[in-house]
Amino acid sequence: MATKKWYGLKFLSKYFKQYKTTIVFALISMAGVAITSALTAYIMKPLLNNLFIEKNEQMLYMIPLIIISIFSARGAFRFFSAYLSEKIGVEITQDIRAKLYEKILNSKMDAIEHKSLSDINTRVIETVLNLHQIISKAIPKYLIGFMTILALVATILYLNWRLSLFAIIFAVIVIIPVKVLGKRVKKHVHKSESYVTELNERINETFNNLDIVKVYNQVDNERVKFSKYLKEYKKALLKLVKYQELTSPLMEFFVSLSVASVVFFGGYEVIHNRMSVGDFFAFLTALMMLYSPIKTVTKYSLVINMLDGYIDRVENILNLEQEDNTKERLSSEIEEIEFINCSLKIKDKKILNNLNFSIKRGETIAIVGKTGAGKSSILTLLFGFKEPTSGDILINKKSIKDINLLSLREQISYVNQASGIFNISIKDNIIYGLDYDEHRYKRAIELAHCEFIGSFKERDNFIVGEGGKFLSGGQRQRIALARALYKDAPLFILDEATSALDANTESLIQDSLATIMKQKTTLIIAHRLQTIKQADIVIVLSEGKIVASGGYDEVSKTKEFKKNFALKG
Ligand SMILES: Nc1ncnc2c1ncn2[C@@H]1O[C@H](COP(=O)(O)OP(=O)(O)OP(=O)(O)O)[C@@H](O)[C@H]1O
Ligand SMILES: [Mg+2]
Repeated sequence: MATKKWYGLKFLSKYFKQYKTTIVFALISMAGVAITSALTAYIMKPLLNNLFIEKNEQMLYMIPLIIISIFSARGAFRFFSAYLSEKIGVEITQDIRAKLYEKILNSKMDAIEHKSLSDINTRVIETVLNLHQIISKAIPKYLIGFMTILALVATILYLNWRLSLFAIIFAVIVIIPVKVLGKRVKKHVHKSESYVTELNERINETFNNLDIVKVYNQVDNERVKFSKYLKEYKKALLKLVKYQELTSPLMEFFVSLSVASVVFFGGYEVIHNRMSVGDFFAFLTALMMLYSPIKTVTKYSLVINMLDGYIDRVENILNLEQEDNTKERLSSEIEEIEFINCSLKIKDKKILNNLNFSIKRGETIAIVGKTGAGKSSILTLLFGFKEPTSGDILINKKSIKDINLLSLREQISYVNQASGIFNISIKDNIIYGLDYDEHRYKRAIELAHCEFIGSFKERDNFIVGEGGKFLSGGQRQRIALARALYKDAPLFILDEATSALDANTESLIQDSLATIMKQKTTLIIAHRLQTIKQADIVIVLSEGKIVASGGYDEVSKTKEFKKNFALKG
């Protein structure tokens, strides 16, 4: 939590700079509102003195016209200040959101994997929305209030400075409780925001696993859990409001003291002819009008107090460690990948232990091993998602640490274990971000045996639902495979890419893969025997260590291999 002074405003000032002109116009409009407000009080003076006491008939025409002009001007100023403030708020928060999203996408995998989806969602949507409210509403209202106070104070000082002193003393006393309450407000901001995250998390998780929730009859339990968080959230919100609104009754009291003393001393002056009736009423009006902007300023100063908390939550994402894309690009196609004494530890747990192996261009390597052996973890190193704790990975004899990861990933076609599918059409899932090429597309669909596309009325324009939920597991895998084939990169990496297919479809796809393997460098991770028979090198992984490696015929005779595939012998 940041404790530096003006932390939030300092952060925002970087963004404010881009909207200098708009801000200047907004400030002018705000000053306009303040000055016209003071004029509505001041008008009491000629109204009473010239119109009612001197009975000057000319004033009968003048004053109503002046009143109309003042109020029209104030209305116009209000409109512009509100509109411009909203514009600044919208633009800045859109900038911030765009930046947050970019930071999330470009973040190092291990920096972001500890965050929950709901937490990120809450920060990008909810927290930034609160920021928007502060920029567009709280700060402008605070400023208008502040300027109005200045204008009204100037008015009363001008009308009668001695009387003004009474009024101002009471106004100053109000500030003390406001300061104390402000600190409390700050504390509760963090709390209430974290409940929003929890609520989001519950919704996401139960929605994504609705079938499990229902079959395990957990609807009631989940509902109860959710309402518990709701209750906590409600408590936090009410506390916030309590501290915010507690200033109001305190102020009413001080204002009444101030007005009462002015009526007494001012009345005394009028009775003894030391003050005109017009001056007195203009003074009293300005003083009573002061109540509203003082209330606004204290209220919104508490809201602005929340700013640091929100900015802190935003900066947490802005400070995510980013992938460095400025390193030198791979200058040619991948010729060789070497894992040298490569180990990976996560929180003191050994995931991979001293791996040594290499893949040469055109080769097919298969990695087999029991679930949890560390097969997919090898890929996280190869993609540069994580750096090895010790050892190194060389690509064309160059350490992966010195390679521009974008240029490495350009050379990779990848099917992940979860066959990541987006909620877009089948076709868009397959060409994912690349230009459309009909020949390549048809070939990919054919090799991946995506004949099922014909069963949809919309064919490949069919939108597949979140995570591909309108598809079967095997259909998702085949789309993921077609995507890898469409990209047609020199290095093919398949992580359990055919595990959801029936034996018949798998063997059809196996034939396709055989064609691919001939042209590409391939790394296959598999549980099933059939998948790996064509591999040049088979690596058996057990508890993060290579326990056997070599050609299929050789390795398949080893005890470790048999253990892995539960073969007898
Ligand atoms: N981000 C992580 N943080 C902590 N532990 C992890 C992380 N990712 C993987 N692990 C652990 O690393 C080990 C290896 O996981 P990995 O996903 O590499 O296994 P795998 O061989 O691919 O298994 P499967 O065949 O089930 O896919 C597991 O014990 C897992 O719990
Ligand atoms: Mg895996």
